[in-house]
Amino acid sequence: MSIDPSSAAGWNARYLSQDTRWDKGQCAPPLARLLAERLVPQGARVAVVGAGRGHEALEAARQGYRVTAVDFAPEAIRAMHEGIAATGLSFEPLEADVFTLHHTHPRAFDAVLEHTCYCAIDPATRDAYVTAIEGALRPGGLVLGLFYNHGRAGGPPFDTTEADVRARFARFEFERLERAQDSFEGRAGEEWEAVLRLRA
Ligand SMILES: C[S@@+](CC[C@H](N)C(=O)[O-])C[C@H]1O[C@@H](n2cnc3c(N)ncnc32)[C@H](O)[C@@H]1O
Repeated sequence: MSIDPSSAAGWNARYLSQDTRWDKGQCAPPLARLLAERLVPQGARVAVVGAGRGHEALEAARQGYRVTAVDFAPEAIRAMHEGIAATGLSFEPLEADVFTLHHTHPRAFDAVLEHTCYCAIDPATRDAYVTAIEGALRPGGLVLGLFYNHGRAGGPPFDTTEADVRARFARFEFERLERAQDSFEGRAGEEWEAVLRLRA
């Protein structure tokens, strides 16, 4: 099924029809590992963007973070509530457009978790995405991310090169940008693991 990447209704339809091949049913291993490195202290406020069914949000909550999980698809939000009920873990599912985060949550977060949101949006809107993320982070805050560099045309998921990440996140210090070693099967060697710090 093709999709208009900017349409909440389009993404929601994918959830309704269970056409969610991106969803591996668990937190991406590199992100679970990055959280466990405690680059952000436990108890810090973390936003998960394009959070889907909330696997990363649950993992961050499990690891002791205060989590807001943003998605504009109502079915994703519903699935997050199910995950909360099933696990007893606690986080805030937020039905909202990621591009508004800097207005609704200015300088609110210590870290943003990026997993398959950047590759899901229209590449023409990537600068606006970075503006929203920057504005929602406190100065010195971190992006912990996985960027999908599959090298294929079209999308979503849209390809993301190292050069693209370096150019778009120009106001961040690149503390790490390297190939993830523990990606999901099928994405091995195709993901950039990133630790980016917003300059104060
Ligand atoms: C490819 S899915 C990835 C979901 C999740 N990160 C995962 O890996 O399972 C992309 C998600 O981003 C959400 N999304 C796309 N654009 C968005 C936007 N502008 N604001 C909020 N959510 C958005 C979609 O609804 C969808 O749940």
